This record gives sequence, C-alpha cells and structure tokens, in this order.
Amino acid sequence: MRALGLGDVHLVETGFLLTADWNPTSPRGEAFWRADPTFAQYTGGWGRDGDGGFVAEEDGRVVGAVWWRLFRADDAGYGFVDERTPELGIAVWPGERGRGIGRLLLRAAVTEHPRISLSVEDGNPARALYEAEGFVAVGRSGDGTIMLHD
Ligand SMILES: CC(C)(COP(=O)(O)OP(=O)(O)OC[C@H]1O[C@@H](n2cnc3c(N)ncnc32)[C@H](O)[C@@H]1OP(=O)(O)O)[C@@H](O)C(=O)NCCC(=O)NCCS
Repeated sequence: MRALGLGDVHLVETGFLLTADWNPTSPRGEAFWRADPTFAQYTGGWGRDGDGGFVAEEDGRVVGAVWWRLFRADDAGYGFVDERTPELGIAVWPGERGRGIGRLLLRAAVTEHPRISLSVEDGNPARALYEAEGFVAVGRSGDGTIMLHD
C-alpha cells in the first residue's frame, strides 16, 4: 500500500469509473461518465488541498485504490456531510475482488481520516463492508445512502 501521489490522477479516474459502473447489469460506460459533470467534480484538478488516498499494489500491479476529496457545500458530492469531512471512493480492480483488499484500503482510509463519509447506491453489496467497518447511515442522496465513519 502506498499513498496516492499527484501523478496518480489516472488511478483516481479509473477508480471513479469502476465505482460509477459498479452494477454489471447496467453499465453506462467510460464515454458516458467522462462526459458527466460528476467525473470532473470527483477527479478534476486532482491533488488540490484535501485530496488524498492509497493505492494497493501486488507484484508491481495496481489492484485497487481508495481516495478522498473535500467538497464545499455549494459543490457537494453524493456523500457530502459537511465541509470538514472528506468523502471517499473505493474500488478494487476486477479480478482482484473478494480477497480482502477493499477492507484493507478502507481501514487505511479511516485510520488517516477517522471522520469520513461516502455514498453507496441501493443494492451495492459494498454496503455490508462499510457497515462491518463502522460506517453508519446518516442520510439519503439520489438512489443511495450517505454513510459516515466518525
Ligand atoms: C466494494 C469493493 C471495493 C470491495 O473490495 P473487495 O476487495 O472485493 O472486498 P473485500 O474482499 O475486502 O471484502 C469483501 C466484503 O465486501 C462486501 N462485498 C463487496 N462487494 C461484494 C460482492 N460483490 N459480493 C459480496 N460481498 C461483497 C462483503 O461484505 C464482503 O465481506 P465478506 O467477505 O465478509 O463477505 C469491490 O468489490 C469493488 O471495487 N466493487 C466495485 C466498485 C464499487 O462498488 N465501489 C464502491 C462504491 S460505493
């Protein structure tokens, strides 16, 4: 595991695309998401104050990432709680899932930022992982739940 660097914007973009299309029954595809305003909202200008994360690597290959960003109230993300609470995203690369990598990444994120939020869409089995790691539901946003670790 290593910290996400300024040069890792492509990993944040890949991770965002994997989370946006988490549901294999209804993928919208990379072109759709790159044109969607949320892509720029979550990845644009990566490396600004409040951005951070970790990359999981195995034998020199990236196998997953967790990243977080602070949003302003007037530019709130789906998992926005307040302006001092970063919102995280997490993705383990396809083919690498179910081996505990996501849990390790999540624990690294909450160790760095004990108060951190996220949003999880209805039906995403990732919610069970978040609950097991101490996140609690604090609200609704679109078709998902806002969860907070504090
Ligand atoms: C969610 C994700 C990051 C979890 O990473 P992972 O390495 O597969 O997870 P781990 O092996 O550490 O932990 C698995 C736990 O996550 C949960 N989980 C996540 N996805 C799951 C799935 N498809 N099926 C069953 N359980 C799942 C379970 O609670 C499981 O716990 P268990 O092993 O005790 O049953 C990964 O599945 C992923 O990248 N999914 C697609 C992107 C995504 O949905 N991101 C989150 C958006 S909110």
